[in-house]
Amino acid sequence: MIHLDLVQSPFSWALLLLGVLVFAAQRVLGKPSTKPAPRPFTPRAKHHPEYSEDAYHDIEPLHSLHLASEQPIQLRTFKPKYHLTMALENTTMSELVAMDNTYEARIKLRSDLIRENTHEVLAHRPAAGPAVSEFYAWMMEYLPSRFPTVYTRTPTGILNTVTSLTLPRNTTDTEQALTLLGSNVDTDFLFLLPAPATDASDGPKYSLEGFITCFPSGFSTRSKLGLSLADIHTPVPGYASKLQKPMDRFFASLPVGRIVKRHNWTITTKPDLFVTSGTHIHAGDQVTEGAQDEVDLARTVLRCERQTLHRLPGTKALVFAFKTYTYPIGQVRGEGSGEALAEAIEGLGRGNVPEMTVYKRQVLWAPRVTAFLRGEIDE
Ligand SMILES: *[C@@H]1O[C@H](CO)[C@@H](O)[C@H](O)[C@H]1NC(C)=O
Ligand SMILES: *[C@@H]1O[C@H](CO)[C@@H](O)[C@H](O)[C@H]1NC(C)=O
Ligand SMILES: *[C@@H]1O[C@H](CO)[C@@H](O)[C@H](O)[C@H]1NC(C)=O
Repeated sequence: MIHLDLVQSPFSWALLLLGVLVFAAQRVLGKPSTKPAPRPFTPRAKHHPEYSEDAYHDIEPLHSLHLASEQPIQLRTFKPKYHLTMALENTTMSELVAMDNTYEARIKLRSDLIRENTHEVLAHRPAAGPAVSEFYAWMMEYLPSRFPTVYTRTPTGILNTVTSLTLPRNTTDTEQALTLLGSNVDTDFLFLLPAPATDASDGPKYSLEGFITCFPSGFSTRSKLGLSLADIHTPVPGYASKLQKPMDRFFASLPVGRIVKRHNWTITTKPDLFVTSGTHIHAGDQVTEGAQDEVDLARTVLRCERQTLHRLPGTKALVFAFKTYTYPIGQVRGEGSGEALAEAIEGLGRGNVPEMTVYKRQVLWAPRVTAFLRGEIDE
């Protein structure tokens, strides 16, 4: 405990005080010269020589992809204790979209949702226009480069060989771009743009300016349009204290050319992909003590999102993308992961945000779902 002894001697206290004063003086005096001028649409990123725009064009083709025999990615990312963290991994632009044998059914469902629930799944504010056009044009290069067995280049555009429809290479019509992305790619896309910093000590705050999101997991994406990251996540327990600062900082500094990936999971007692409410309990909701959801175990699924975040090189907008996977809990039990998932479900209340058990309605479905996963009950 050498350190403690030092701090306890009067001389060290004087040194410590001096240090604090010097630090404070640096902050006060040094600030004006180091403060960057507010520059909307320019990330306040350090120079990252390891990242460059080449990342957007250096796409690795999957020449032998055969959609019908490609199994969906099996995500089993749950842990015995639930910690609310960013938990990011680096990935590559090639990996932005994942395709598998669910594609045809999924895009049929997506097209129906876009037609029948347009207001809920697709929206944009004027600021998003240039970012959406930029992303659309890039996707029309990416898709045939990455998935040449699904999308091919023709003289008039990009042919989707599954639907036999041809997509234009470019469009400045934001609505059309979002509709075409949503009905040809089984991934949801959200476009975030920076607002100039209001507090000089912080970077810009990002807000949702446009989206095509067919598979929301229990909330209305529409109701988030125009909101900042912090406001979007108001209902999430622990977000403000644990994630808000690191997320704002991360979003502000993500350099052009870097793309990151993360996964999350939950249990839903219905298998539906388009869910705008009913999977969360919010502050103020009445929940009767001892109440339980009616859990139809045959319809209950492990629901995961594979999420990515990257910055567009031209407009500097951020694109948050996610693909949704659902796995029947019978399948999870059958493969031998039942105990691990049951532990993770109980672990929702044992991590850094125990309130997750209420937020995710775990208190209402966990007893039956964990008993099933452990083989104690079958229905
Ligand atoms: C991802 O890349 C960044 C920058 O190169 C690096 O600082 C970071 O440690 C990497 N993250 C992981 C999880 O490997
Ligand atoms: C598409 O966009 C690119 C880049 O902005 C431009 O060079 C090209 O002329 C556009 N093509 C069409 C068909 O509008
Ligand atoms: C995953 O996280 C996102 C926020 O990043 C949230 O909107 C979504 O509901 C979560 N999904 C699942 C399946 O937990």
